[in-house]
Amino acid sequence: MPIEPANLSEALREQLWAVARVAHARAYAPYSRFAVGAAIVDEHGAVHAGCNVENAAYPLGTCAEAGALSALVLAGARQARGVVVVGTGGSWITPCGGCRQKLREFGQPDMPIFSATLQALGPVHSLDALLPQSFGPSHLPNR
Ligand code: THU
Repeated sequence: MPIEPANLSEALREQLWAVARVAHARAYAPYSRFAVGAAIVDEHGAVHAGCNVENAAYPLGTCAEAGALSALVLAGARQARGVVVVGTGGSWITPCGGCRQKLREFGQPDMPIFSATLQALGPVHSLDALLPQSFGPSHLPNR
């Protein structure tokens, strides 16, 4: 059974969704036309945003979650406690495989990851549900 997601207050969920919507509006996605915004709350309660940034050399594009994690680290934080991802269109999106592993570096298995659109805040999954049996920092002997 996957680990259940930890609870976030409704106020914090709404704040994360609002920040992710602003990030979505700033996405640079001229090739896919699929804007994504992400917001992550850290261990101090600060919220960090990211958007996808595509590139004419297609594989070099970066995901919204990666940008939000960079902002979190730059701010001096080291833990991710909750994520909201806003995609484009009507369906819920979850982080890509690579971003699930990037989130694992700073998030515990019970970290909640909410899918959202611009219209609605959607379902929540724990990081463990999206990346079961994961490999993380504690597996390395020097951590
Ligand atoms: N993308 C993200 O930024 N985050 C996700 O969770 C899924 C995909 C981006 C990558 C690319 O710029 C565009 O969405 C289409 O794949």
